[in-house]
Amino acid sequence: MPAPKETKASLRCLLRKRRKVANAVDARKASLALRDMLLTHVTLPPRALVSAYVACGSEINPRPLLQELEARGHPLCLPCLPEDDSPLMFRAYALGDPLLMGPHNIPVPFSGAALVQPDVFLVPLVGFDRAGHRLGQGGGFYDRALYHARSLRTIKAIGLAYSVQEEPSLPLEPHDMGLDVIVTENDFLESFSS
Ligand SMILES: Nc1ncnc2c1ncn2[C@@H]1O[C@H](COP(=O)(O)OP(=O)(O)O)[C@@H](O)[C@H]1O
Ligand SMILES: [Mg+2]
Repeated sequence: MPAPKETKASLRCLLRKRRKVANAVDARKASLALRDMLLTHVTLPPRALVSAYVACGSEINPRPLLQELEARGHPLCLPCLPEDDSPLMFRAYALGDPLLMGPHNIPVPFSGAALVQPDVFLVPLVGFDRAGHRLGQGGGFYDRALYHARSLRTIKAIGLAYSVQEEPSLPLEPHDMGLDVIVTENDFLESFSS
């Protein structure tokens, strides 16, 4: 039986290929469907601060959703990846703000943007299963960020993905943090047992 680390690595490979195909079909249509799915099924506390992401590679693009969340009065922020293993930081962001290219080729706000603590995390996924487990890029950044945030306050972690990124069951390690909600262009999943 391969160790979870090796299984995760081969699953990432497979799931990224599936994600790429889905993203090539009609990314715009999927983004709009994702927005509608989330807004129909998820109620966010008024003015909850939402951690967003800028879609990289073939990640499902949350931009139409972010536009609507901003219009409804939700302030946004973006994660800033560290160079090392230190925790993610989050900086205030409004759509249209200029961004810098940060570590791992991920755009981040300028260092003058306020450091904030999100109430809601929109988490880009490499993979997910119906038990609310996630597979990320392999840096464990969201595992650490969600662990830290949950130890301090009540937050909501919402995984965003194409529906083809679903696996029957993902390998888990003790540090893996589950999601509260998963939204795809076709599905809305919640009420996970743990
Ligand atoms: N809470 C944590 N404390 C320390 N290290 C962590 C924590 N969460 C994750 N990690 C580290 O991150 C690495 C990658 O995690 P993994 O779950 O494989 O990535 P991802 O969640 O991005 O798919 C792990 O091998 C582990 O060393
Ligand atoms: Mg993990």
